[in-house]
Amino acid sequence: MTGIPGLIGESAAVRRVAALVRAAAAADVTVLIEGETGTGKEVVARALAALGARAGRPFVAVNCAALADGMLDSELFGHRRGAFTGADGERRGLLESADRGTVFLDEIGTTSPAFQARLLRVLENAEVRAVGSDRARRVDLRVVAASNAPLEDAVARGAFRADLFYRLAVLTIALPPLRERREDVALLVEHFVRGLGGVAGVESAALACLAAHDFPGNVRELRNEIARAAVLAGAGGRIGVEHLSPRVRGAEARTAAAAPRYPPAPAAAMAELERRIVCDALARHACNLTRAARDLGMSRFGLRKRMRRLGVAVRRSLGPTPERVVRLARAAPVTTLPTRDASTIDSGFVIPGSSVGRAFGCEVAASSGNRRVTSG
Ligand SMILES: Nc1ncnc2c1ncn2[C@@H]1O[C@H](COP(=O)(O)OP(=O)(O)OP(=O)(O)O)[C@@H](O)[C@H]1O
Ligand SMILES: [Mg+2]
Repeated sequence: MTGIPGLIGESAAVRRVAALVRAAAAADVTVLIEGETGTGKEVVARALAALGARAGRPFVAVNCAALADGMLDSELFGHRRGAFTGADGERRGLLESADRGTVFLDEIGTTSPAFQARLLRVLENAEVRAVGSDRARRVDLRVVAASNAPLEDAVARGAFRADLFYRLAVLTIALPPLRERREDVALLVEHFVRGLGGVAGVESAALACLAAHDFPGNVRELRNEIARAAVLAGAGGRIGVEHLSPRVRGAEARTAAAAPRYPPAPAAAMAELERRIVCDALARHACNLTRAARDLGMSRFGLRKRMRRLGVAVRRSLGPTPERVVRLARAAPVTTLPTRDASTIDSGFVIPGSSVGRAFGCEVAASSGNRRVTSG
């Protein structure tokens, strides 16, 4: 466990984050939190407030992206009566309400240059000036800002003031995406399952699926996935693969397909070797069975029988120009795919009629480079 409230994980990355959070909380400095959506930026902001000297004081969270520009200014800094059309009364800003506490400015990267200039003044002078007012009020605040895109990139683009960036990023805490700390998935799943109550547990196959998924929505997506699966598993049930959403189940299928399945079992390896010898002979003789059979020291009938057993077929394909096709008729345990332009048909290969032997020769040569896929 990390010792940080709400922050679950035991990966090296999360431990590093926890150490930074502890240091930053004690130092009472301005902190910039960066991380993709759902990585726990708000969790960290709240922890900074809860662990620091300002614990128990106000914690005000503002989503800067959710408010239109003028609205954001008026919300945060307050406004005088008549400062703008519709400003009927005087209004105290959130920054003043948060005095002696912590302000969490979420999605800071989306703010306007005018807002950035105002905020910089607050940070530099520790005072707030309401919109339409020339009187400044002193405030004692700790500002924590967050961005789900690297703020430095916005500075480089000219979309964010460099001076404000340096003022905010006294200490930067970068939250890693979940896919870069898959070792935390099991712990998080356990945490969410316990929190939900009702379900008895999670089957290991389901856990494997979850650990293989990339979670673009990070911990939030994982939490929602577990909540959904728990509903489907029902009270007292165990979450199985069948309760996971298709996109999470797909992750496991992709992983399984990517995992190398060779070396093949001895019998399969033997069949593959035979198949290659037969295909080689066919290629050398432009798919002429009589000549290939002679080359292999067997009868034409014997070769046909062997080809059937090995799943090798020779046929004329239907195309604008007749092509000879060497095709693996049955699902074979190991198929060698061509790397040249010969197109694949039914997990087999098409060989242009004009250069059957050469094309196939290239293919076979390429296959010794181990470009194999499993089929069937
Ligand atoms: N390390 C963690 N341990 C436990 N729960 C976490 C962790 N990180 C995130 N969560 C949970 O995931 C959800 C999303 O977290 P949070 O709101 O902090 O993300 P965020 O980075 O602020 O996302 P956004 O950019 O979309 O606002 C919350 O329910 C939070 O409790
Ligand atoms: Mg957030």
